Amino acid sequence: MRLKGKSALITGSARGIGRAFAEAYVREGATVAIADINREAAEKTAAAIGDNAYAVKLDVTDQASIDTAVKAVESKTGGLDILINNAALFDLAPIVEISRASYEKLFSVNVAGTLFMLQAAARSMIARGKGGRIINMASQAGRRGEPLVAVYCATKAAVISLTQSAGLDLIKHRINVNGIAPGVVDSDMWDEVDALFAKYENRPKGEKKRLVGEGVPYGRMGKPEDLAGMAVFLASDEAEYIVAQTYNVDGGQWMS
Ligand SMILES: NC(=O)c1ccc[n+]([C@@H]2O[C@H](COP(=O)([O-])OP(=O)(O)OC[C@H]3O[C@@H](n4cnc5c(N)ncnc54)[C@H](O)[C@@H]3O)[C@@H](O)[C@H]2O)c1
Repeated sequence: MRLKGKSALITGSARGIGRAFAEAYVREGATVAIADINREAAEKTAAAIGDNAYAVKLDVTDQASIDTAVKAVESKTGGLDILINNAALFDLAPIVEISRASYEKLFSVNVAGTLFMLQAAARSMIARGKGGRIINMASQAGRRGEPLVAVYCATKAAVISLTQSAGLDLIKHRINVNGIAPGVVDSDMWDEVDALFAKYENRPKGEKKRLVGEGVPYGRMGKPEDLAGMAVFLASDEAEYIVAQTYNVDGGQWMS
């Protein structure tokens, strides 16, 4: 067990990639807060995972909610060892149709949510004096722009940059901040993405998803479980000397 006795909080872990991370962390001996805006789904996921998972209501756009969630983890487990900033929203529109509301919503969850969650976790870890691990979910979308995906791509580029700055600032407290950049992962989010591409590229539903899967060098879309090994590794003792990096886990989509 590589995370025995560790206390983790994973944002947006009621479903998808965050849920797969929570399952893997519990298998490796951690206790995990399933922290999600969807409280009911978080309760169900925690119950399905078992005794070492518990639900915490969290809206990463609300500072009071962030502070309450971190306090809940501290009082349940004695302190926070690992944060995964996983919650995010997606949207898609051509440049001339992007709305200010969509821009603000995505930046508020994907960027401000990541930064202020990371800040609250870092404050808690520094006060405890035992270091910690913070993993931010970026994306191949943060490595380059895409014609219909300007805002989401920009948020994920910002996550890669925040990972670098926070990684460099916090390592003196023995808090390692790193990131994971998935390619295309078959989750509920991608079903929503497919529906948006169907609308803007005038395609039948499911076609975009099939095409992107075929385009992955590995030969298929990722599954949430494909990312779990990297999330466990970055939280483990083996990753002690890794600082401010973002790793591609994408079946060969991107090289950097
Ligand atoms: N699915 C992909 O192809 C893909 C590719 C690259 C990167 N990613 C990234 O991986 C992460 C997980 O993606 P996923 O596909 O599992 O997404 P998902 O949409 O399936 O899950 C996101 C979760 O975040 C929660 N959430 C949304 N807003 C929140 C808020 N304000 N506060 C707290 N929780 C909130 C949702 O309730 C949901 O449970 C995201 O950061 C995403 O950008 C996904």
